[in-house]
Amino acid sequence: MLSKRQLFLDHVGQTGPMPVMIDVSHAQGMFIYDTSGKRYLDMNSGISVSSLGHCHPAITHAVLQQTESYMHTMVYGEHVQSPQVGLASLLAEQLGSSLDAVYFVMSGTEATEGAMKLAKRYTGRTEIIACANAYHGSTHGAESLRSDEKYKQAFYPLLPDIRHITFNDFGDLNKITEKTSCVILEPVQAEAGVRLPERNYLQSVRQRCTETGTLMILDEIQTGFGRTGHLFAHQWQGVTPDILLLGKAMGGGMPIAAFVSSKEIMSSLTKNPMLGHITTFGGHPVCCAAAEACMRTLIDQPQIIDEVDRKAKLLKEFIASFSIIKEVRQAGLMMAVEVSKRKYLKHIVAKCMELGLIVDYFLFDDRSFRLAPPLIISDDEIEMAKRIFESAFTYAEEKYRR
Ligand SMILES: Cc1ncc(COP(=O)(O)O)c(C=O)c1O
Repeated sequence: MLSKRQLFLDHVGQTGPMPVMIDVSHAQGMFIYDTSGKRYLDMNSGISVSSLGHCHPAITHAVLQQTESYMHTMVYGEHVQSPQVGLASLLAEQLGSSLDAVYFVMSGTEATEGAMKLAKRYTGRTEIIACANAYHGSTHGAESLRSDEKYKQAFYPLLPDIRHITFNDFGDLNKITEKTSCVILEPVQAEAGVRLPERNYLQSVRQRCTETGTLMILDEIQTGFGRTGHLFAHQWQGVTPDILLLGKAMGGGMPIAAFVSSKEIMSSLTKNPMLGHITTFGGHPVCCAAAEACMRTLIDQPQIIDEVDRKAKLLKEFIASFSIIKEVRQAGLMMAVEVSKRKYLKHIVAKCMELGLIVDYFLFDDRSFRLAPPLIISDDEIEMAKRIFESAFTYAEEKYRR
């Protein structure tokens, strides 16, 4: 009989030649357990998803309760479903009056698609501007926003009328004109290896968008829900976008995302043509119930977000003290650890995995590894991570010396 691993390789669609292949048995809090009993400290949160840890009781309770009442009843936007209404109202309350209409979808890339369509429909313009080295999703429209031509070529033709600017290049903002429907960017560039905005950069983008009648789309799919030490990064940065993208940590481990705007902008999807964006499972009641529980937990227990910077500092100071580390870039518990020599990277990541700690790579930064632990990480778990990092850094240095 074929092993489960072989069946996985044979029948589950793959995206790369070397999947991590942890054979998951269960996951709880900061840990993922495999079927052999080995446990892994999750310093990655499934790429910034499990911010409250795995199987947080508030989330599992909400999911169980909702599945007992109802699951799917009708495609999105037709029936009045309490979990959707509760979550949309809570988001509107936290985001303010210019971001008070929430369109629920299933994934970050669908939020990007919906936002691009909304901006084109609202402004009547076609040009879209994105930042180089940004990732907004993997469907055709979102993929069109990538700056990496070599990667994109395989999927041509993609969307026309896409232009790129360089994040933090103030001079590039002149490319935003009366022809531009929207500018899409992240408040902190994630896949570029955690690149923070320079002082006044986001404000300048905002100003240029306002001058030209262009919609500003902020992608908070990775930065949202406390990751940067603030409920939303744009609130910390003091910039309000016209459209906000949410996803990843939103559902506490359940699949849900959203694009959010003012009611005035959002209403353009209801006419000329009506049904401007439609989705069957967007805003699934079970996912909305989970997301509401997740957000309520973050609001009712403010210490979770308040503690983010202190925890990040403990990790950052320790990691940065090693000579093989060149730099640690960080916004809350979203971190890129840059090594002084690229060759160290694979040894560090492999040794961490062997010692039971999960870290990951970035899409557009091949000199850094990613740290994005659940925000609930305890001081003891930080100590555990530090001990493993120390071993992994020593191992990588020795390996390279040989
Ligand atoms: C900033 C950002 N936007 C959009 C996406 C796409 O989200 P999803 O994978 O849910 O489609 C991602 C995923 O990594 C992301 O990091």
